[in-house]
Amino acid sequence: MQNLLWIINKAKIRIFVRIHIMLTFILIKKMNFCVFFLYLAYIFVILRCENGLFIKIRIQIMEKSALQVARAAYQPKLPKALQGPVVAVEGAATQSVGNQDEIKAMFPNTYGMPVITFKAGEQKAMEPFNVGIILSGGQAPGGHNVISGLYDGVKSLNKDSKLYGFLMGPGGLVDHKYVEFTDAFIDEYRNTGGFDIIGSGRTKLEKESQFESGIEILRKLGIKALVIIGGDDSNTNACVLAEYYAAKKYGVQVIGCPKTIDGDLKNEQIETSFGFDTACKTYSELIGNIQRDCNSARKYWHFIKLMGRSASHIALECALQTQPNACLISEEVEQKEMSLDDVVTYLAKIVADRAAEGNNFGTVLIPEGLIEFIPAIKKLIAELNEVLTDPATGESREFASKEEQVAFVKSHIAADNLAVLESLPKDVERQLCLDRDPHGNVQVSLIETEKLLSTMVASKLAAWKAEGKYNGKFSAQHHFFGYEGRCAAPSNYDADYCYSLGFNASRLIANGKTGYMSIIKNTTAPASEWIAGGVPITMMMNMERRNGAMKPVIRKALVELDGAPFKFFASKREEWAKNTCYVYPGPIQYWGPSEVCDQCTKTLALEQK
Ligand code: FBP
Repeated sequence: MQNLLWIINKAKIRIFVRIHIMLTFILIKKMNFCVFFLYLAYIFVILRCENGLFIKIRIQIMEKSALQVARAAYQPKLPKALQGPVVAVEGAATQSVGNQDEIKAMFPNTYGMPVITFKAGEQKAMEPFNVGIILSGGQAPGGHNVISGLYDGVKSLNKDSKLYGFLMGPGGLVDHKYVEFTDAFIDEYRNTGGFDIIGSGRTKLEKESQFESGIEILRKLGIKALVIIGGDDSNTNACVLAEYYAAKKYGVQVIGCPKTIDGDLKNEQIETSFGFDTACKTYSELIGNIQRDCNSARKYWHFIKLMGRSASHIALECALQTQPNACLISEEVEQKEMSLDDVVTYLAKIVADRAAEGNNFGTVLIPEGLIEFIPAIKKLIAELNEVLTDPATGESREFASKEEQVAFVKSHIAADNLAVLESLPKDVERQLCLDRDPHGNVQVSLIETEKLLSTMVASKLAAWKAEGKYNGKFSAQHHFFGYEGRCAAPSNYDADYCYSLGFNASRLIANGKTGYMSIIKNTTAPASEWIAGGVPITMMMNMERRNGAMKPVIRKALVELDGAPFKFFASKREEWAKNTCYVYPGPIQYWGPSEVCDQCTKTLALEQK
């Protein structure tokens, strides 16, 4: 936040300094030194009094790590097609992945557009044009490179074009809070992790009043196109906004960019969402370190929960990288209709089998969203979501207190769901009944599944011990890796991928496109061979039930149980459970041999094989 304050006021500082340098010269000429001394004292007081100026100057000289300094000089690679002028090649008309008639009716202006591929071509001269950008949702490594890629792309088309960043997510557009990017400003953030360049937020852009408020500031700043960097929900909203502005003929294009560490915004057109690569490599480094410790001390079972709200892509990728003793995959739990007790029995059996070999240690990876995939709990959550939504407004119901909310929920759900709810530990029960994020999702990162499972495994093992079925020692450690990886310095893959996504967005804008997502394909090949283009967002949509009503949304990509990454994992997991086959990936490397620095995720490599 402090960094952000400095950014917002950088322009102010420049004006302030310029005015006062001029005044200084005038005063030196016209006055004696005594008056000049008084003037210096005045400047000192102004610096201290003017809200935050002093802080901002201090932050400007904030110390950087040696890695940050060296990394700033890295020039991300671009696909060959984007290295010079481009021409857009249009494919055939597209259809949405489901509910075609409904989606077509809801998006008459942006439905059915063709997939675009950029090829080297001739550049038309462009008048200066202004672009706005928004970071939406959870942080993901590489966001700053999308912005620097877009900035360079926009400037390469006309150096007088401008890029504006809306502050703290979509809310910045609605509340008219923005900043203008400059060369120096952008240079501070090249190849860095985080979203602190302009901040991010989860305000949902969905109401007409928000769209209208947005157009006011877009017009004031002369913005021709808005780029929204977000996950499936944010890109769904980007599409709704694109359609609204197209229907109203407001002349503002909207382009999306696929972001999320969760890796669940992917399909035939989008190979991966940015940030997934770096986040998984960061978590895998930590898991590897834990496994080495675990294999050294041989006395703990480590229960490691991994972020990823719904899909288990992160857990699966980390398992492929580190070969733990167990990794739960939520999608499989759902498909096999496992109960919570089935999951606990599965893990307890692995612990007991290893104990029989004298190995009272191990690692278990747990996807963050597991709880939502256990069929009985999924059914319960679906009903909770309905009950917590006010049918009249479609908004979350308001309660005077948390206690009142829990009581309301309990008195309004079906008896079988109530029984499931009350069978859960009290803190999980409360969490399920309480907060939702602005998109209506249960905040699974707040549910301590790792502790829930290890406690239940311990009880099961105690029961087996009493029956003479188990004779080991079980001592658990708990970890949750999520925020540790979301702002890591982007890997070479993410640095290049994100820069290309941003640069490519400028070409979509230059070609007059709206309602498109910027895409870069063929990313398992060297960057020069990557394919750049755009995909209509409506193509990825279907209708789903959200907050008690059917809504058009981008289909979330869950782990496919017949996909190559899961099949590979399934073919190995018994061996990894029984034996100690740990792999220690070590930290992300930015320089060195290509097989160490430039590898994509194992998931992507297996999918593209
Ligand atoms: P996005 O889908 O917005 O990219 O966010 C993903 C995520 O990191 C999830 O993995 C996690 O459940 C959630 O954000 C946590 O949200 P918050 O940052 O609000 O705690």
